[in-house]
Amino acid sequence: MSADDQKRLSGEAAAELVENGMVVGLGTGSTAAWFVKALAARKLDIRGVPTSDATANLARELGIALAALDDVKSVDLTVDGADEIGPGLSLIKGGGAALLREKLVWEASKRCVVIADAAKHVPLLGKFPLPIEVVRFGHVHTGQRLADIAAEFDLPPPRLRMADRGVVVTDGGNLIYDMASGRIEEPAALAAALKAVTGVVDHGLFLDLADEALLGTDGGIVRLTP
Ligand code: A5P
Repeated sequence: MSADDQKRLSGEAAAELVENGMVVGLGTGSTAAWFVKALAARKLDIRGVPTSDATANLARELGIALAALDDVKSVDLTVDGADEIGPGLSLIKGGGAALLREKLVWEASKRCVVIADAAKHVPLLGKFPLPIEVVRFGHVHTGQRLADIAAEFDLPPPRLRMADRGVVVTDGGNLIYDMASGRIEEPAALAAALKAVTGVVDHGLFLDLADEALLGTDGGIVRLTP
């Protein structure tokens, strides 16, 4: 089974968790897109809260009614992908540069389900570079402060994310620095240090947020809990 088939499997399994009347957080990325498609096919009476412009466009095309986060009191269930799923369902997210809106929607949710192909499940976080979202103003200086923190954790300096057309800009107008590490031994300490830097909006470490994971594997869905 290809990774994409595994992603589809996990997205379809998560769509079965949704019930009529729910407010549903719609994640971002290729796995979340499978979820959104499977959810739309069920034609339930729900409202979706998208975590990115890309997901909002997809959901709208498929006929899912949308609400902004501030238009709802809370979100019943959020389903989203991840770049890595580590011990205790600690996650790295933000490969698609949507980490800030994702985290805001996750934190407003009663239940968060992460969906992924089997290769995303790792014994230790860090192989995937950790995305850090920073404001544009003074970002070179912020980047230097991030490099200082990286050195304290024995990690190489983060690099500004670029795309073919230049610097990557998030839906919120911010920039992304990626911290390639290999190993994140102390995710909570790193998360706190990054969050304390002025200019950092947020980072892609999602700790103590996921309630369960539905992994698509060649043998079917594997359910993980923290
Ligand atoms: C978006 O910013 C990310 O957090 C995605 O959820 C993550 O990158 C997973 O993406 P895929 O499902 O495309 O692997």
